Amino acid sequence: MSVAKKDIKRVTTHILQGMKARGEKIAMLTAYDFSMARIFDAAGIDIILVGDSASNVMAGHETTLPITLDQMIYHAQSVIRAIDRCFVVVDLPFGTYQGDSKMALKSAIRIMKESGAHSVKLEGGSEVKDSIKRILSAGIPVMGHLGLTPQSIYKFGTYTVRAKEEEEAAKLLEDAKMLQKLGCFGVVLEKIPAQLGKQVSESIDIPTIGIGAGPDCDGQVLVSHDLLGITKDFHPRFLRRYLELFDTIKGAVEHYITDVKAVDFPSDKEQY
Ligand code: KIV
Repeated sequence: MSVAKKDIKRVTTHILQGMKARGEKIAMLTAYDFSMARIFDAAGIDIILVGDSASNVMAGHETTLPITLDQMIYHAQSVIRAIDRCFVVVDLPFGTYQGDSKMALKSAIRIMKESGAHSVKLEGGSEVKDSIKRILSAGIPVMGHLGLTPQSIYKFGTYTVRAKEEEEAAKLLEDAKMLQKLGCFGVVLEKIPAQLGKQVSESIDIPTIGIGAGPDCDGQVLVSHDLLGITKDFHPRFLRRYLELFDTIKGAVEHYITDVKAVDFPSDKEQY
């Protein structure tokens, strides 16, 4: 059974804003290809994030750093072809927006123009202020991303919970307020204490989407491969697995191999 509001024809930033104002939670998931995006859109997901986690779960890299702008655009194009209703956010990959706001705008324009996506997401607060401002000035909706920002993994050194200390928590809150002031339509809060997720969500009017940031965020996001159990050896506390697809698919493929070897497939009915 689904409680998704499928009567909404198209999810927009305006609709997302209204959901926050009414206290209606926002459901967001990553997708990187046509077939998955079609299923998620049919299920009534509010936002699809074409995340740079594609670098991990699609390409098998250890971090999100190697994925390129061309590769992100390819994934975004596949997702956009699949959807009728949901809002699509695309990650600006590492090295395409930091430290050069003109390059940031060029990267965002390429994503919007070549994929047909609805918005971009980028990681960081005050450090990427100029890039955010310039992208917004072109009329491109921007989503922020604070807390654990995987593109900075070599600065952090670990994927542990961020902003546990007062100073880092205070900066995160200030950054969230700044993102709102600049005109971002939402912000992802990744792996921070639930209490801070609540405080940030109550301090700004734009939706907060949490991943390991507690139940008081205005919405939640998960990497779809984790939720579906396609990834296997990843067990952070925040993750709820709704399926164990690795084992299910492996079982089906083993069955197929057995049938082929035994000439049990194809049967009389499965041939011309
Ligand atoms: O790339 C991604 O999947 C993300 C989510 C973890 C929010 O940024």
